[in-house]
Amino acid sequence: MGLLDLEAAARERWLRRRADPDPQESDASSRSNKYGPHLLTTVFDPAAFVEEAVKKLEQELPGKAVVACSGGVDSSVCAVLAAKAVGDRALSVFVDHGLIRKGERALVERMMSSFHANFKVVDASDEFLAALEGVIEPEQKRKIIGGKFIDVFEREAKPFGATHLVQGTIAPDWIESGGGLRDTIKSHHNVGGLPERMSLKLAEPLRDLYKDEVRKVARFLKLENAERQPFPGPGLAVRCLGELTEEKIEIVRESCAIVEEEIEAAAAAGKCELPWQYFAALLNVRSVGVQGDTRSYGWTVVVRSVGALDGMTAHWSKIPPEVLERISTRITNTMGKRVNRVVYDVTNKPPGTIEWE
Ligand code: XMP
Repeated sequence: MGLLDLEAAARERWLRRRADPDPQESDASSRSNKYGPHLLTTVFDPAAFVEEAVKKLEQELPGKAVVACSGGVDSSVCAVLAAKAVGDRALSVFVDHGLIRKGERALVERMMSSFHANFKVVDASDEFLAALEGVIEPEQKRKIIGGKFIDVFEREAKPFGATHLVQGTIAPDWIESGGGLRDTIKSHHNVGGLPERMSLKLAEPLRDLYKDEVRKVARFLKLENAERQPFPGPGLAVRCLGELTEEKIEIVRESCAIVEEEIEAAAAAGKCELPWQYFAALLNVRSVGVQGDTRSYGWTVVVRSVGALDGMTAHWSKIPPEVLERISTRITNTMGKRVNRVVYDVTNKPPGTIEWE
């Protein structure tokens, strides 16, 4: 099956999902299965997918490969598939671009060591932050980040002798990145953000899957991060509107950690369901406030929490007011005069997107 067929298949499934958000509850016999055993079946079969993907990677990777590994569910599944297919001929590389979540690096190191995959951390934060200095336009940020990722992977590929890059692109990434007849909603760092000339050949085993299907594969592979909420490759850069500064990145990193802690605690206490995605973004807006007896002129943090099936559409979560109040109080107490306003985003996708940039 060619790339165009795969794209047509994924597109067709996406359109059908919009009409029928829970494909598993529908009549199996009404579905055709012309695209292969794991595609277009009513019940996605992770075991068949893994078998097929490993066989395909064995053929696609004649030599060595670098695996782009962010520690998220997509790239972790890729790392395991690549390790199954070519063993130590695959090297998983985690790039710390200075825009990752609080505690992320330690968590990814611990998780990757449990996969027993060949793994390396590269600290490229100075390089990424220097390239992003003064950049305010979201698409430009995404393109710079996509290009820098490739610089780092190509640099790591050389001494290892890799000819291929395995990355965890999934269907929504290329659908939203546009091309052909599709409008560019946003250039996902691993698709529209890629530089035009790359020396590494791409292998993308998850290209025609949606997030819920990737999670099924992750559960089948018994990965501990199977249920982890998504985090965009460009990281906090697309949660910090406007120009990035160290101070703003620190505010959004800490605010994201507070939102995660409070919503996870509320879900564990049965106050709400765990949403599909929940985080904070820092708006490029300052407003007047009062703290103690003095005036403040601080930044605005927006809390975003959504329910979704695959991220292609989403609805804002009905988080209990007392949970939102705790989040707001903790953020403003922690940030002092830097943040004096916290707002909650009540926009569905469409018309909004999940991330703010
Ligand atoms: P949006 O904001 O487009 O996001 O509604 C849909 C889902 O994709 C994630 N996202 C990204 N993931 N690279 C990624 O790996 C990206 O460039 C990117 N942009 C958005 C987002 O967090 C959400 O889960």
